[in-house]
Amino acid sequence: MSHDQHDTPYLDAVLAYRRRGFTPFHTPGHKLGKGAPAKLREMLGETCLQVDLAMAGAVEDTRESTGLIRLAEEYAAEAWGAERCHFLVNGSTSGVHAMALTLAGPGETLIVPRNAHKSLLAALIYSGATPVYVEPQVDPVWGIPLNVSVAQATRAMRAHPEAKALIVTSPTYNGLAADLRALADVAHAAGVPFIVDQAWGPHLRFCPDLPVDAMTAGADACVVSTHKLISGITQSAVLLARGERLNLSRLESMVKMTQSTSPQVLMYASIDAARQQMATRGAELWREATLNAEWARERIRQIPGLRCLGREVLEAEGVAQFDPTRLTVSALDLGHSGTELETILRDDYAVAVEAADPLAIILNVTFGDSRNDLRVLVDALRDYAARYADTSGRREAAARWLRLRPPAFTRQVLTPREAFFAPSVPLPLAACVGRVSAEIVTPYPPGIPVLGPGEEVGDETVAYLTEAAAVHLKVHGPEDLSLRTLRVVA
Ligand SMILES: Cc1ncc(COP(=O)(O)O)c(C=O)c1O
Repeated sequence: MSHDQHDTPYLDAVLAYRRRGFTPFHTPGHKLGKGAPAKLREMLGETCLQVDLAMAGAVEDTRESTGLIRLAEEYAAEAWGAERCHFLVNGSTSGVHAMALTLAGPGETLIVPRNAHKSLLAALIYSGATPVYVEPQVDPVWGIPLNVSVAQATRAMRAHPEAKALIVTSPTYNGLAADLRALADVAHAAGVPFIVDQAWGPHLRFCPDLPVDAMTAGADACVVSTHKLISGITQSAVLLARGERLNLSRLESMVKMTQSTSPQVLMYASIDAARQQMATRGAELWREATLNAEWARERIRQIPGLRCLGREVLEAEGVAQFDPTRLTVSALDLGHSGTELETILRDDYAVAVEAADPLAIILNVTFGDSRNDLRVLVDALRDYAARYADTSGRREAAARWLRLRPPAFTRQVLTPREAFFAPSVPLPLAACVGRVSAEIVTPYPPGIPVLGPGEEVGDETVAYLTEAAAVHLKVHGPEDLSLRTLRVVA
């Protein structure tokens, strides 16, 4: 059945609940704001508190109801081209967990990209599956991971006919998209599902000017963060799937296992609204955003000392398409790391970026930005570059940032789960070479692990982590965040 994508069944039910004015004997304890402390009321406003519900209350008839939520999910499945959609309240992270638990367990293999988000490594610890990594190349100029190429995926599938699925991340944080159609063919020729972490692609389906989306390209499932680039509120996401090669009932059970039992009504309603907005106006909204982003890219590229990633990246291995609405800007030629540039933009120009790492900053451009917002950005960057045109004394620092390249994968000695739960000891970093890591180490951003549990710690990894500690890189995962020691399997 085809739905009218202008409708918002879930959002409407929430609004109706508020209009009716119930006397609430349900969660949360602030009782629709009446008992909330004044400052919280000031921050959230009456409206937000009046619809701050778990899905129980009077919006749904029972806690386990599948009626209204299922209906809203059907609208979303249709909009994103899937057979089944699940609304998620713990981001794409929880969708990645549900997918991994559906695909493979202990003793089974998954082909996964080395540039996977840390949620996938956590999922492997939960599930007990063994990863076979495909290592996308790292761009020599930008130091960013590229995409899994068709040749790499083909080689991995041939070498591991026992693999239960092929998983890739696309688009990447920097907007680089893999050749999803060809990768789907590779997986399907081997008779296994093709799974895409499309956290950064909630918009792709709705605008032909953007890279092809995973479901159109033939993926069997993908996760999409509706909070990242469209109007879902923070933490909202959807999991999309089709059932030809995936057990949809098992997937549903795994979604229930990985979600809160009190999903936020606000989050669900925002997914409903974001889906409606995209399905009915996505193409025009993103066309405008693309023009604005290209306008800014062109001008940033003309600023002496600044670089902005563009379509030239399509020449790199594995990169099939590029999302022009993601702006990756480097100030290394001015002797500043991305982190330093972020601080200057924030403190001196009140410009807030999406992410900053040693090499660059990332800026998201969406339909929420006007041409004037982009003018503010370009003017700030122009002024900044003029102020810091004299680079004396900063060149050496920039060279050091550039040396910080993610180490190559060594070998998987134990599964992530075996290593994670094995007896382990903290050792000084230098003494860890040749040992098996018991921890995940993830520089953040971009949230891509450089070392996972069960991996042999190589010279390159120790050199990288030593340098990372020296430049105070932010990491998630290890017990000792100063990176003086690392926990290895005893
Ligand atoms: C590629 C990728 N996958 C998954 C995630 C997790 O998404 P979420 O923050 O919605 O849980 C992220 C987050 O940045 C990501 O970059």
